[in-house]
Amino acid sequence: MLLRTADPYNHPQRMKPLSSQTLPLSDNGSIPVLGLGVWQTPKGDVTRNAVSAALRIGYRHIDTARIYGNEEDVGIAVRESGVARNEIFVTTKLWNKDHGYDPARKAFDASLKRLGLESVDLYLIHWPVQSKRIETWSALEAIKREGRAKHIGVSNYLVPHLEELRANCNELPSVNQIEVHPFLQHRETRDWCARHNIVVEAYSPLGNGRKLFDPTVNSIAERIGRTPAQVLIRWSVQNNLVVLPKSANPDRIEQNGNVFDFALDASAMNALNALEAGDATGWDPRTQD
Ligand code: A2P
Repeated sequence: MLLRTADPYNHPQRMKPLSSQTLPLSDNGSIPVLGLGVWQTPKGDVTRNAVSAALRIGYRHIDTARIYGNEEDVGIAVRESGVARNEIFVTTKLWNKDHGYDPARKAFDASLKRLGLESVDLYLIHWPVQSKRIETWSALEAIKREGRAKHIGVSNYLVPHLEELRANCNELPSVNQIEVHPFLQHRETRDWCARHNIVVEAYSPLGNGRKLFDPTVNSIAERIGRTPAQVLIRWSVQNNLVVLPKSANPDRIEQNGNVFDFALDASAMNALNALEAGDATGWDPRTQD
C-alpha cells in the first residue's frame, strides 16, 4: 500500500519539505538527506544549470569532487543562487594523487579557490588509496580545526579501511560515501558505520541509471504510481542513507526530489532488499586499489 502525506509540490513553499529532511551528524550539525550528485555532469553550463535548477527546486545539498572537474561551476551556481550560503550543504573530495599531509592541505586550498567559497560543509577522502591514508586524514582533521571544512569524512571506505582509521585517528569520519542501491547494499560497512555513528551516503543510487530498468523496481513503481528512480531513491531514504542521485535534466532533478510525500510499504522494501547481488556499477573498492 502507498502511504500518502500532503503533497509538498502543491504547496506554495514547496522548497521547504524537500530541504528540511536531514540526518544528524556525530560532530553536531546535520546533513540534508537528498543531495544532487554531479559526477559525470560536464563542466560549464551543464553543471551550472543542473545545480541552479536543483537549488531552485529546493535541494540544499550539492556533492562534487576535484576529479569531476566542475567545482568552479558548482561554486558559481551556489554563489549566484540567491540562497544563503549557510543554507546550502556543499561537499567536495580530495583526489588520489593529492594524498599526504602537505599535498592534501594544498589540494583543499585549491578546491576552495575553485569553488570560490570560504569553507565547505564536508570534505571527503575520495578513495582509500594505499599508503599515506593516516597522514592524509590528519590533514583533514587540521582543516576541520581551522573551520574551513565543517565536517570531514571518507568515501569508498570498507570495514578494513575504517578499522585502520579508527586505530590511528583522533576523530572518526562523520560520513562515509559509497555506492549503495538495492543491488549493492554494503550491509557490513553500513552496520559498522551505524555502530560508530557515521552517516552513510549513497552514490549512484540508481546504479548509474542502469537499475532503472529492473523488472522488480518497475513493478513496484507501477503499483504505487511513482517512477523507478523515485522507488530507488525512496529505498535509500527509508534506509537512513543520505542519497545523491545524479541528473543533468531539470525535470528529472525535480522528479528525484519528489520522494518525501510517500513511503514504500514493507512488501516493497522486502522485495527491494531481496535484490542484493553485490553488483557495483562503478569502480569497486572491494577490487580496486
Ligand atoms: P541524466 O543526467 O540525463 O538525467 P546515478 O545517480 O545512479 O549515478 O544515475 C545517474 C544516471 O541516471 C544518469 O545517466 C542520469 O541521466 C539518469 N537519471 C537520473 N535521474 C533519472 C530519472 N529520474 N529518470 C531516468 N534517468 C535518470
